Amino acid sequence: MLDMQSASVTPPRAILREEYRQPDWLVPDIALDFTLDPGLTRVRARLTLERIGRHDAPIRLDGEGLKLIEVSLDGEMLGTDRYRLEDDALVIPCDADKARLETLVEIAPQANSQLMGLYESGGILCTQCEAEGFRRITFFPDRPDVLTRYSVRMDADKAEYPVLLSNGDCVESGEGEGSRHWARWEDPWPKPSYLFALVAGDLVANRDKFVTRSGKSVDLAIWVREGDLAKTGHAMESLKKAMKWDEETYGREYDLDQFNIVAVADFNFGAMENKSLNIFNSRYVLADPDTATDGDYDAIAAVVAHEYFHNWSGNRVTCRDWFQLSLKEGFTVFRDQSFSADQGSPAVSRISDVRALRSAQFPEDAGPLAHPVRPDSYIEISNFYTATVYNKGAELIRMLHTLLGPEAFRKGADLYFERNDGQAVTCEDFVAAMEDASGRDLSRFRLWYSQAGTPQLSATIDHDAGSARATVRLEQSIEPTPGQVDKQPMAIPVKLALFGAHSGKRLGEEMLGLLDEPSEEIVIDGIAERPVLSINQAREALRRDIGAALAADWRAAYAGNSAERYEYSPEAKAKRRLGNTALSFIAASGAEDAPQMAFAQFEAADNMTDRQAALAVLANGDSPDRVAALAGFYERYRDNALVLDKWFAIQAISTRDDTAARVEELAGHPDFTLRNPNRLRSLVTSFGVNQRAFHTVSGRGYRFLAGIVLEADKINPQTAARMVTPLGRWRRLEEGRSSMMRTELERIARSEGLSKDLYEQVSKSLG
Ligand code: BES
Ligand code: ZN
Repeated sequence: MLDMQSASVTPPRAILREEYRQPDWLVPDIALDFTLDPGLTRVRARLTLERIGRHDAPIRLDGEGLKLIEVSLDGEMLGTDRYRLEDDALVIPCDADKARLETLVEIAPQANSQLMGLYESGGILCTQCEAEGFRRITFFPDRPDVLTRYSVRMDADKAEYPVLLSNGDCVESGEGEGSRHWARWEDPWPKPSYLFALVAGDLVANRDKFVTRSGKSVDLAIWVREGDLAKTGHAMESLKKAMKWDEETYGREYDLDQFNIVAVADFNFGAMENKSLNIFNSRYVLADPDTATDGDYDAIAAVVAHEYFHNWSGNRVTCRDWFQLSLKEGFTVFRDQSFSADQGSPAVSRISDVRALRSAQFPEDAGPLAHPVRPDSYIEISNFYTATVYNKGAELIRMLHTLLGPEAFRKGADLYFERNDGQAVTCEDFVAAMEDASGRDLSRFRLWYSQAGTPQLSATIDHDAGSARATVRLEQSIEPTPGQVDKQPMAIPVKLALFGAHSGKRLGEEMLGLLDEPSEEIVIDGIAERPVLSINQAREALRRDIGAALAADWRAAYAGNSAERYEYSPEAKAKRRLGNTALSFIAASGAEDAPQMAFAQFEAADNMTDRQAALAVLANGDSPDRVAALAGFYERYRDNALVLDKWFAIQAISTRDDTAARVEELAGHPDFTLRNPNRLRSLVTSFGVNQRAFHTVSGRGYRFLAGIVLEADKINPQTAARMVTPLGRWRRLEEGRSSMMRTELERIARSEGLSKDLYEQVSKSLG
């Protein structure tokens, strides 16, 4: 008898980095022709193909969820005996070394709830192709080392979709039959399929110009729905600053006549760097003082810059395979962090970058999903857009910058871009360029790419007053991570300075040491006073627990920094931040008048930063004003999806005892939906990081998360897979909670029809 439970589907196969082989066929050109309709869109693709190397492998094209209507090779329509349609591929035997292949497929944008490929968002048709979404649009070798010149024609109803956009320049457009019209776009730069984009919709543009340093004028446009036009000013200013910064800092100029950004409401990520047609989650475009906080403004500037910077670090020089993802993402995060630091206070920027690293990447590196910055295997690549690949990856680039110094680093970056322009390359090519330009041996440094885990660094200091000699002893070690037991010592740059234990004065210069052995001693002479050591930013811990002891100071800080007229300047932002920090400490200390102060601020605020901060304080408390403020906020902003996300998130991160119950209730709220990733994250991701509520002792937080992840997986597997990670931390909890978390993971694992995205996260979390 066959046991249906255990005879479940074979687990999805893992892809290994070591299996990389260059493609059998290249596609130098493609002409795409879209007949757009939200219900059923027809896509005709004409590919020129070239065999690479000596082999007799057939043409093999990826395709997922496509309805194949016809296929022809060199002008000849193929019968079903001339090709093979596999699960996720179209295979066509071919004797010639060059071929012209034409396919016609049908797809259904409106039914696409995964938001990968061509889909509809609020009446706009748009695409998301990274990492492997292009195969949901047409049959194609959907891998980043196939670089192709694109010509795109699209045809659509003119009233519904007056604006038609794709990569490159619009070279032709016209009226079609009946109510239809069309446009043809050409992108002169060969690109991987993941950078393809198309948008059709009823959009308006905020237009501007940027003149590059060589004098070329670039037309800039940010496309949004009509009612949102007034909220695009900050994104446009950020874009122009980013373009200038990349010229000044990296010598990188923009390389086309147009640069378009489109904002859509339904988007799996923050934003996407498609060549000359960036598509953004509307939360990283739209801002005005009434609806966006200072944090939102900063994030918009950083994301706009990040996606723009990809034009060089990612698009002109791209990744050979997805294991090299950090090549573009780590480097580009480092670039956007440096940009943000240059706009305001470098110290404040650095503190927030380090916070993100410690709160997101360190736990990942210490848990079941730990992986190297350049992973060795994956089941679903979407699961590897992680804090490790992004933030730790950026730290590696920062270490190179520290190690080599700004000048040699810039020489290395120039060499990297020059050598690899127009190619799909590896993390190793980046390190090699840095090595060649600087003449430094980076062999130990390379381990950072292959070893997972956070190294522990310890330092001790000995002082001999007689000889005025200080000896600093540095040691490193890394705990084992899944699949990697033995770790090698890595190259760690260490900035150190000595301070007088009594005088507090700096003794000698700050030094840059390099620890590339398990341990090392640094001897410093001429130190007469007993020294204390300062290493890499290690005073973090001192900044905590300042609460009630400083009550009077917080009140003074509040009085001196709140309720000023809104202004968007670094000084005004700093004042709001200090005022709101003071308010939150006053509330945390349990002061009786705190709710009153918060409610007064909530009512009087002329900007979202102050209003949201006051609401967050109230939402943590018990006062009657809490209910009034939440209701008032909801009424005022119920038609603004981005602000309503804040309303859900504030309640999901509340420190109140009934938060888990309230979150369950909110999941049934008429404005809650599993279909919009922002809304889903605002409730579920926020709840997952709420240590108190999520780990509520009854285990209802775990049950809730597992239940909603299972529901979301049927609609949007990528987003579902990202939300399940808090359950993976079960090993760090005491027996009771730990076993309840496991039970929920097992419940997910046993469920039928699990996506491979969620399967990978859950099986590794249990493993
Ligand atoms: N290339 C990514 C977008 C992306 C993310 C595609 C995940 C496929 C899967 C883009 O450049 C990116 O990194 N966006 C970030 C924001 C950025 C500022 C770190 C994002 O979407 O979160
Ligand atoms: Zn990126």
